[in-house]
Amino acid sequence: MASQDAVDPGSEDPIWSEIRKDVQGVSAGESLLERFLQATVLEHASLESALSFHLSNKLGSEMLPAEAFRQGIDEAFNSAPEIGEAVRADLCAIRERDPACTSYWMPLLYFKGFHALQAYRYAHWLWGADRRALAVHVQNRVSEIFGVDIHPAATLGSGIFIDHATSVVMGETTVVEDDVSLLHEVTLGGTGKETGDRHPKIRRGVLICAGAKVLGNVEVGEGAKIAAGSVVLSDVPPHSTVAGIPAEIVGHPEADQPALEMNSGLGV
Ligand SMILES: CC(C)(COP(=O)(O)OP(=O)(O)OC[C@H]1O[C@@H](n2cnc3c(N)ncnc32)[C@H](O)[C@@H]1OP(=O)(O)O)[C@@H](O)C(=O)NCCC(=O)NCCS
Repeated sequence: MASQDAVDPGSEDPIWSEIRKDVQGVSAGESLLERFLQATVLEHASLESALSFHLSNKLGSEMLPAEAFRQGIDEAFNSAPEIGEAVRADLCAIRERDPACTSYWMPLLYFKGFHALQAYRYAHWLWGADRRALAVHVQNRVSEIFGVDIHPAATLGSGIFIDHATSVVMGETTVVEDDVSLLHEVTLGGTGKETGDRHPKIRRGVLICAGAKVLGNVEVGEGAKIAAGSVVLSDVPPHSTVAGIPAEIVGHPEADQPALEMNSGLGV
């Protein structure tokens, strides 16, 4: 059930208004989805309420049911409005950058990269509130359910797009700035030879293509592009394209922020 009874179309929240309008249309045209769409979207008064409901149903288990997650995620949304802002920026990022996506409602309901990222946002909030056991529990459920493992202490900005998402890993001291795009099987991990601050720092607007491994406390400069399957072991200068194992500079992206264009060609 929705946490708030009154359903407000949300004229001051254009993303939520559009989601509701689109979902009403989908529901009218596909009777088999009507109940699902009612429960996940149409019964809710806000995007936060819908996301909390949907995410908690995915994360819940027999031992820690959805209702417990729901309570916790609602609490995070209420006490940290910046999470809701990041959720909206992430939805915009997907819609603008994913050629297969022309709406906000599809990622909200179906894209596991989006779900994993929002669950990380909840886990990160728990981590900051010194509720680390629950944060690690959330991380573990996300890993089990979505195949995405983001440490709750990692620092991620907003407007982040994780496409397909299977096998994405980000370690404890990883930093990912705003407006970054990455694809499935990307690892932002340690080399195993360093301790402490040992994970990559990914600056704004970077595009990391499928299967790339960025290892160690290396900096990937603003607007850089990392080719599929690369192993990055050293700093990548801003606005350069790297490829290979170990990765080397092979060119320079045409776009200032390749993450926004999602042009994975190795343009020079
Ligand atoms: C294998 C590894 C531990 C490096 O071991 P190492 O023997 O200390 O190697 P070095 O860092 O000194 O590098 C030696 C050479 O191998 C190259 N190299 C290192 N890792 C490499 C890799 N994964 N693939 C190909 N070449 C690699 C280096 O570029 C270097 O080449 P150079 O001598 O021409 O400059 C490390 O690079 C690695 O792969 N770690 C992976 C850890 C991991 O899986 N992390 C994910 C955690 S989620």
